[in-house]
Amino acid sequence: MAHMKWRLVLTGASGGIGQALAVALAPYCTSMVLVGRNRGVLETLRARLGPHLVRIVVGDATQAATLDAVVAAANELGGVNLLINNAGINDFHAFQSQDPAALRNLLEVNLLAPMLLTQRLLPQLRNATSAQVINVGSLFGYLGYPGFAGYCASKAGLRGFTQALRRELADTGVEVRHFIPRATRTPINAGPVEAMNAEMGVALDEPADVARQLCAFIEGSAWEHKPGLKEALLVLLNHLLPGLPDRAIRGQLPVIRKHMPAPVRRAQPRSS
Ligand SMILES: NC(=O)c1ccc[n+]([C@@H]2O[C@H](COP(=O)([O-])OP(=O)(O)OC[C@H]3O[C@@H](n4cnc5c(N)ncnc54)[C@H](OP(=O)(O)O)[C@@H]3O)[C@@H](O)[C@H]2O)c1
Repeated sequence: MAHMKWRLVLTGASGGIGQALAVALAPYCTSMVLVGRNRGVLETLRARLGPHLVRIVVGDATQAATLDAVVAAANELGGVNLLINNAGINDFHAFQSQDPAALRNLLEVNLLAPMLLTQRLLPQLRNATSAQVINVGSLFGYLGYPGFAGYCASKAGLRGFTQALRRELADTGVEVRHFIPRATRTPINAGPVEAMNAEMGVALDEPADVARQLCAFIEGSAWEHKPGLKEALLVLLNHLLPGLPDRAIRGQLPVIRKHMPAPVRRAQPRSS
């Protein structure tokens, strides 16, 4: 990697892709702020990478106190010049029965938290000679898919945010970019999603492969990384001829419904 002096802030560092990214990027960083909720995983990662290099911030990304701690840690380490908004969750459910609190959390973690963190770190990013913000999106940000209405909405929102901010900062030294991994073997796909993927024959990348792709993407100049030609064609087809994926996905509904978790029970209002 030509640019050897990243001062990194990475969210979701305790997750599958995040841990692989931290390991892959460590040789090119002069400092790393690793953010997540799982202290044990983050401590182990720090021990592996070299404690002198790494500051960890443990907290929920939807809480202002966590964002404050990230901003302070980055500032103490000389400011950030590479922000990777990678933390994310999904919630595979039929939309009608999805828990409203889970839906709200999905949008807060996947969309609002990266927006607010980026906003808070922009003074530091703009202070750097050159800097990058990389938002980790999903193919589902382009392709609406049953059982993932909230996730698709959050990732479509993240894509819109990325493109708008990229254009807003076009005359600054801050590049804002969008990275889309292919389906990857991580805890986000555990349980029913894993079973559905297996039945549908969805191939999964390993986190280390995704980390390598992201390192190459950082070096390049494209605004967006799509995982492969097949995915790029699917996005184009969905845009130009949406009736075709409509029909194909409708055909997948029985398998999707088979794996969908049972509806969330909500308290019924008491009748008088
Ligand atoms: N895996 C895939 O197939 C796939 C495909 C396309 C896009 N992506 C995207 O890739 C990114 C990384 O996902 P992954 O596959 O590595 O999933 P993962 O292993 O489940 O990791 C998710 C990470 O997000 C963090 N996180 C979740 N909720 C949080 C919250 N409220 N506050 C702070 N951190 C929170 C988790 O922290 P804790 O562990 O501490 O809870 C964890 O570090 C996500 O944005 C995901 O949407 C993944």
